Amino acid sequence: MIVCHCTQITDTEIRAAIDWMRSADPETIITPGKIYHALGKRADCGGCMPLFLDTMRSSDNLGVPANLRGLRTRNKGTVHEGRRKGYRIPERSAAV
Ligand code: FES
Repeated sequence: MIVCHCTQITDTEIRAAIDWMRSADPETIITPGKIYHALGKRADCGGCMPLFLDTMRSSDNLGVPANLRGLRTRNKGTVHEGRRKGYRIPERSAAV
């Protein structure tokens, strides 16, 4: 079944790309963009994305590797790289 009409990608190709990526790198995070790239194509209109994602989810090999699950909650309490609270110059000088 054709999933993406702009690029003529089928559900079989999507599942094959997922299987290939998972066998090449068991720890990879598989995204629609990586699948397009693996198939040598680029998304055009994006209208297929809901069906594309449903097809991806139906694959047995899509899951996030166990060692990469829960990273956000596992790293709670550590300093993140986000913006500091006192990012404005007046706040910085007041804090010093
Ligand atoms: S239908 Fe897939 S990009 Fe247009």
